[in-house]
Amino acid sequence: MMYRILILWLCFLQLRFCMVYEPEQIHLSFGDTVNDVVVTWNTINDTEESLVEYSFGGLNLTANGTSTLFVSGGKEKRKQYIHRVKLPNLARGIKYTYHCGSGKGWSDKFWFKTPSNDPDWIPHLAVFGDLGSENARSIPQLQEEAQRGMYDAVFHIGDFAYDMNWESGRVGDDFMNKIEPVAAYVPYMTSPGNHEEAYNFSDYKARFTMPGNTEGLWYSFNMGPVHFICVSTEVYYFLDYGLKLLTNQYVWLERDLEEATSSENRTVRPWIIILGHRPMYCSNNNSDDCTNHETWTRVGIPFLHWFGMERLLYEYGVDLVIWAHEHSYERLWPLYDYKVQNGSYAEPYRNPRAPVHLITGSAGCREFHDFFDEEQPEWSAFRSLDYGYMRLRVHNASHLYTEQVAVDKEGEVIDHVWIIRENHGPYGQE
Ligand SMILES: *[C@@H]1O[C@H](CO)[C@@H](O)[C@H](O)[C@H]1NC(C)=O
Ligand SMILES: *[C@@H]1O[C@H](CO)[C@@H](O)[C@H](O)[C@H]1NC(C)=O
Ligand SMILES: *[C@@H]1O[C@H](CO)[C@@H](O)[C@H](O)[C@H]1NC(C)=O
Ligand SMILES: *[C@@H]1O[C@H](CO)[C@@H](O)[C@H](O)[C@H]1NC(C)=O
Ligand SMILES: *[C@@H]1O[C@H](CO)[C@@H](O)[C@H](O)[C@H]1NC(C)=O
Ligand SMILES: *[C@@H]1O[C@H](CO)[C@@H](O)[C@H](O)[C@H]1NC(C)=O
Ligand SMILES: *[C@@H]1O[C@H](CO)[C@@H](O)[C@H](O)[C@H]1NC(C)=O
Ligand SMILES: *[C@@H]1O[C@H](CO)[C@@H](O)[C@H](O)[C@H]1NC(C)=O
Ligand SMILES: [Fe+2]
Repeated sequence: MMYRILILWLCFLQLRFCMVYEPEQIHLSFGDTVNDVVVTWNTINDTEESLVEYSFGGLNLTANGTSTLFVSGGKEKRKQYIHRVKLPNLARGIKYTYHCGSGKGWSDKFWFKTPSNDPDWIPHLAVFGDLGSENARSIPQLQEEAQRGMYDAVFHIGDFAYDMNWESGRVGDDFMNKIEPVAAYVPYMTSPGNHEEAYNFSDYKARFTMPGNTEGLWYSFNMGPVHFICVSTEVYYFLDYGLKLLTNQYVWLERDLEEATSSENRTVRPWIIILGHRPMYCSNNNSDDCTNHETWTRVGIPFLHWFGMERLLYEYGVDLVIWAHEHSYERLWPLYDYKVQNGSYAEPYRNPRAPVHLITGSAGCREFHDFFDEEQPEWSAFRSLDYGYMRLRVHNASHLYTEQVAVDKEGEVIDHVWIIRENHGPYGQE
């Protein structure tokens, strides 16, 4: 560590002899399917090759990848290289060890386990948003649990580092190093938030490697009995970057839902879970997005109401939607268009008649908490300002369990709910 700091300091003095080839900011993600895992890392100088040595035995397999020069936005134009290597066609339900780098410098050794193929397999996930470099409350507990092998994937649904582009990307580098003890052991799946907006989301697009070819802004993948869809709510808010992002995502989303709900696909993967950054509903006492009745993500563009996503959730029978952005936790009763559906005020959520919305944006960041309105709306079932994150387990075709953990209360589970759905069809047709 001291060695690395010294080297960086010499580099800062622009001394030309200093070359830094050691990988840092190592993190994993799924490729287009969970059979492939991608290792992504950064080096300060160009290593000319990007390799991962891995295996369930003695690191005796090698995968070759690519590196790209990333120049941070802003005046300083700081440079670094981002390496991406895909480990293809991995065996299922196996623990692999790996290290990454090049002949000029290797990382420490890490490990990960691949999702099982067993039809009775229960995926275990952690979900949160709004985790910064400062006040990163949830990292110690997430690290312990990730390294104990508790999770098959982690979802960080927007707002990273606060902000990744700050100080010419140094805040982003610091953050990516802070999450390495989690993200080098378990696929760290992401979606963009408003704090990633600078320079057209360039830090987000460069630093993460998500499935599909839209630079991680939106994508979907299948794991066990679940079809996961990650969307960018930000395409509704930063229209300067092009209305076509909003329309392209919407068209893609509807097509993806169409395919995921074909009878063959939904039989195999009955659960459809959508994750994104800004919620459609929330009861925080700020003048932010979801406190506005007609959130664009929910109802679409003003007057015309084109491209609203709530209608899709209802018509395609999406089971669960998870948001962040508000620095708090909130669980809603199953609702559609501000109306809790008949028969829904009960736990567990048994055959809910509308999608279930959860908001988990309290992982910890320099902006602390977002408080709630004094009066809790009738559609809100539970709320909390405790720092923490959500755990999600999909037990089988009919039973899904989520719980919210409070990291400052020794990991106490402050809320939990079962969602039980015997038929995963469209709502409103029972
Ligand atoms: C290595 O990286 C440092 C820091 O970005 C830079 O100043 C130096 O020019 C680089 N060296 C080479 C040979 O690219
Ligand atoms: C790598 O090592 C493992 C464990 O020793 C062994 O099972 C596997 O066959 C080896 N693979 C290759 C390509 O040598
Ligand atoms: C990795 O791929 C590059 C480009 O295809 C090739 O030039 C290089 O020799 C490969 N390296 C190894 C170690 O296979
Ligand atoms: C922003 O980035 C997206 C893709 O990442 C691109 O399609 C769009 O044209 C860019 N917008 C601007 C204004 O550069
Ligand atoms: C539908 O099922 C096929 C075959 O399993 C799979 O390749 C495809 O990805 C599925 N589509 C979606 C959207 O889940
Ligand atoms: C929200 O509630 C908190 C705590 O009750 C209070 O300190 C804050 O001023 C309120 N904010 C607004 C915008 O009303
Ligand atoms: C609500 O659902 C119950 C059965 O769950 C049904 O008996 C009742 O008629 C429904 N009421 C309305 C207003 O739909
Ligand atoms: C699904 O899982 C739940 C919770 O573990 C269990 O109670 C239920 O019996 C399971 N259903 C089936 C069909 O296996
Ligand atoms: Fe946000």
